[in-house]
Amino acid sequence: MLELRPSDAVIDLGCGTGQLGVPLLRFARVVVGVDPEPDMLVALGARGTSVVPVLGGDALLPLLGAALGDVGAVVIGNALHWMDEPAALARAVGVLRPGGAVAIVTQGPPLWLGSSRWQVAVKRAMEVERGPLTATCGTDDATLAGRAHILTGLGLVVAQRRWVAEHSVDAEWVVGHLRSATGGRAPSGATVAAIDDAVRSGAVERVTTTVVSGILIN
Ligand SMILES: C[S@@+](CC[C@H](N)C(=O)[O-])C[C@H]1O[C@@H](n2cnc3c(N)ncnc32)[C@H](O)[C@@H]1O
Repeated sequence: MLELRPSDAVIDLGCGTGQLGVPLLRFARVVVGVDPEPDMLVALGARGTSVVPVLGGDALLPLLGAALGDVGAVVIGNALHWMDEPAALARAVGVLRPGGAVAIVTQGPPLWLGSSRWQVAVKRAMEVERGPLTATCGTDDATLAGRAHILTGLGLVVAQRRWVAEHSVDAEWVVGHLRSATGGRAPSGATVAAIDDAVRSGAVERVTTTVVSGILIN
């Protein structure tokens, strides 16, 4: 999917706390994490990694590309839906070296669209606080197909991979996840109490990861 060379730079766009960028460190010369939320970059720094934090958004890509030289990959995890997608993808493709790749990773549907009993309870509590929650955060098939179409139009050879995994979650994880997925806004005290109740006796999330990737052949 990504054929990185040791001389490559990698850009993790919308890096958050580095879920994608940190594991890619060992395959690249440098990994740069770009995010407009200072708190995210502080949390990334607190992990003690050597991902280089850059405060900003996708508009910075041309400048970063020029500064970094060979960019072997731009990876975007659960973040593209916050951006003007065609513009961000055009900028991402614009910084790639020949043979470089863009990888768009989504994990979902978001937990508020899940059908487990604990997910339904969490959704109910969040909706009392914030009103109807229907956003797919870019995980629905139509959005994924649209992204593949954009990458193809930009001249990339596109592929899609998908897998499902299960992991146990606790209240702290659910609260952190909801905060990150809803633009940094933490759930209220009442919602946190409801989340505690919902997951106290054990909760498992079954999550689908989809990677839409494109390689720049020329
Ligand atoms: C749900 S988090 C995903 C974090 C991480 N990539 C992950 O997969 O866990 C989405 C991130 O996108 C960032 N973001 C929002 N708008 C952005 C933009 N225009 N350019 C880059 N990042 C952006 C947010 O600040 C947030 O940290």
